[in-house]
Amino acid sequence: MKRFITVALVFSLAIFASACSGEKPADIAIDTDISDSLIKIGFSQVGAESGWRSAHSESMKNAFCEENGYYLAFHDAHQQQQNQISAINSFIKLGVDYIILAPVTETGWDNILTEAKNANIPVIIVDRMIDVANDDLYVCWVGSNFRAEGDKAVSWMAETFKNNRKVNIAHIQGTLGSSAQIGRTDGLSTGIVKNPSWEIIAQESANFTKEQGRAVMEDILKKHDDIDVVYCENDDEALGAIEAIEASGKTVGTRGDITIVSFDATKAALEMVLSGKISYVVECNPLHGPIVEKIISDMEKGVQPEKFFYIEEASFDSATITQADVDARMY
Ligand code: AHR
Repeated sequence: MKRFITVALVFSLAIFASACSGEKPADIAIDTDISDSLIKIGFSQVGAESGWRSAHSESMKNAFCEENGYYLAFHDAHQQQQNQISAINSFIKLGVDYIILAPVTETGWDNILTEAKNANIPVIIVDRMIDVANDDLYVCWVGSNFRAEGDKAVSWMAETFKNNRKVNIAHIQGTLGSSAQIGRTDGLSTGIVKNPSWEIIAQESANFTKEQGRAVMEDILKKHDDIDVVYCENDDEALGAIEAIEASGKTVGTRGDITIVSFDATKAALEMVLSGKISYVVECNPLHGPIVEKIISDMEKGVQPEKFFYIEEASFDSATITQADVDARMY
């Protein structure tokens, strides 16, 4: 399974990835003096847009460490698909043993993954899903059921607002075209159909970031004075939206002016749930590292993994969360 990487194959991704986009990608290089016994992993990460993402990167780096028998070439794509394609291209040229891809969006992977397949490099997809014509282009996928996450949030909203004659929803979306956005948006769209009193009065993407969450919310508040719920597609957006709402003089919380619903359940968000500022958060578990590491160590022994590995996830309600829930959260 393992291929040997020689001096001739060491180069920097920055040279050609920066030619493809305005972003400054991290360099990709593999040390020439690493032990041949290490399994070489090329990991293309979406970016560093959220607390969830930082925890995800950390989990992968911890799992694919030298002590566990790995050499990890980690690449941050700054939320640009073109940077990810360039990174995978580099991983193929470097002759890594496995490629792990956390894709920014679902579509657009057929060509580059065909190249990886032709080079006999197994590809494992983590976090968001990909939409390719041939599922054989990747070995397996590990991640969350984003649609189920959306459904959980919508069920909570249906129960919480069952006596309201009108529910005005501001919808702050994640990165358009990503599985996390598609699943959570689909959940809400179905909720709208099932609950005739609900109306989406504003809908905009904040790319899963706190800064854009704040800016989008400021913009929405200028146009609407009658918001009941803000459905934020991740915690960072929620934290930014709360700042904007409070700066406008309104209060957040089920007993405040505006109810906040969010996704991820990072420690920062759970603290907000405990204080009542976020009313409900659906967990999205970023701790993929040990799961993916087990898959690869099994593959090294000739064991083929299941195609799809869904991670179990909980949710937290401001009415029932405890300090112990917050303390237990490590990221
Ligand atoms: O794909 C997972 C999503 O991406 C998380 O909800 C979000 O925080 C991250 O940026």
